[in-house]
Amino acid sequence: MAGRLKGKVAVVTAAGQGIGRAIAEAFVAEGATVWATDKDVTLLDGIPKAKKRKLDVLSSKAVNAFAEKVGPVDILVNAAGFVHHGTVLDTDDKAWDFSFDLNVKSMHRTIQAFLPGMLEKGSGSIVNIASGAGSVRGIPNRYAYGATKAAVIGLTKAVAADYIKKGVRANAICPGTIQSPSLDQRIKDLAQATKTTEAAARQAFIDRQPMARLGTAEEIAWLAVYLAADESSYTTGQIHLADGGFAL
Ligand SMILES: NC(=O)c1ccc[n+]([C@@H]2O[C@H](COP(=O)([O-])OP(=O)(O)OC[C@H]3O[C@@H](n4cnc5c(N)ncnc54)[C@H](O)[C@@H]3O)[C@@H](O)[C@H]2O)c1
Repeated sequence: MAGRLKGKVAVVTAAGQGIGRAIAEAFVAEGATVWATDKDVTLLDGIPKAKKRKLDVLSSKAVNAFAEKVGPVDILVNAAGFVHHGTVLDTDDKAWDFSFDLNVKSMHRTIQAFLPGMLEKGSGSIVNIASGAGSVRGIPNRYAYGATKAAVIGLTKAVAADYIKKGVRANAICPGTIQSPSLDQRIKDLAQATKTTEAAARQAFIDRQPMARLGTAEEIAWLAVYLAADESSYTTGQIHLADGGFAL
């Protein structure tokens, strides 16, 4: 299908690679005007037809300036996030604070910046990328990460509840393990840390998935298209698992 987002303006954070990129590309394919943003603007090369802008979501100043430039939008996708590995005893204040700044406060920043424009229009869809790890399921060695993604779900539900009568919807997507450049890096790091091969480290991620395969970023993007589109107009404040049965 094409044209499901025709006439809509979308902002996607962390669109340089992985899930954010697949979402930006799918939105373009469905007819939206897409502002594809990333802190590394060079990664945005090659996304067809999107407006590409550098945006570091750790900076409130940069987010506010960008929102002012873009004006009201219909869709906001918050995809920026970082996976910290470790238990509570492995997580120092710096790692905790960085995880919350990038994974949670970034969404607080972008929603504060773009929500007023949605309220002006009387409509909007916010899609936050959470995770199957967190409040959906406790995963070993994802202490800070799981806490941030649980917070993303709480933030999403709060925004949905506050603006349900104003035409703005907010939903969270909880992906399982998805093939992406940062996953490749995490597999490399894990192999080194545990003195195993990369193939064995990758297999450990695959073994966690009941479908015995990793998901693709496109499989997350299709869900994001649905949540961004008017097809999901009766759906807000929900978590949506695209996790290959991970949470079963
Ligand atoms: N890949 C998975 O298995 C998986 C599973 C569940 C949830 N997620 C979540 O999906 C999201 C995307 O992850 P991914 O693995 O697909 O992509 P990724 O981690 O490979 O790419 C992340 C992108 O974010 C950008 N980025 C990093 N810091 C930024 C900042 N401060 N401002 C703007 N952009 C910044 C990077 O440049 C990069 O392009 C994250 O929120 C992640 O937690 C991923």
